[in-house]
Amino acid sequence: MNTSSHEISLTVNGRAVEATVESRLSLADFLRRELGLVGTHLGCEQGACGACTVLVDGRSVRSCIMLAVQADECELRTVESLAPGLAMHPLQDAFHKHQALQCGFCTPGMLLRCLELIEENPDITDEEAREGISSNSCRCTGYQYIVDAVVEAAEQMRQ
Ligand code: FES
Ligand code: FES
Repeated sequence: MNTSSHEISLTVNGRAVEATVESRLSLADFLRRELGLVGTHLGCEQGACGACTVLVDGRSVRSCIMLAVQADECELRTVESLAPGLAMHPLQDAFHKHQALQCGFCTPGMLLRCLELIEENPDITDEEAREGISSNSCRCTGYQYIVDAVVEAAEQMRQ
């Protein structure tokens, strides 16, 4: 190990991971290139669009501007965690039902941001959902269908 490399231990989607990473490797590149979790998308790579959103210790972060070394000893969830088997997560079902995606590029990050919102606020309203997803850009949907999906998924997850 040279001085620009670091050993990290973390949990990704319930799996323990140990790796040696370069100091400047972004968390997004670590997930995509080293772990093959390509569901995490890269858009602006400047922290603006939210396409690369993942959950770190339950909080949404932009993995393009977080370093992999900063995830040491953290618990990560990526979009791949939502449906580890054949059944879709209630959020994915609701996105499908309400056509809350078109090209789908923003969708992995949007799903994780929405999951954070519902976990923080199981009774989320339309208005709260709209404000909550304003952190993430979508060029296709106009957002209303996403708001509808979040509120319905929250209802499903309460039951
Ligand atoms: S790709 Fe990370 S915020 Fe846009
Ligand atoms: S569905 Fe195309 S950017 Fe959101």
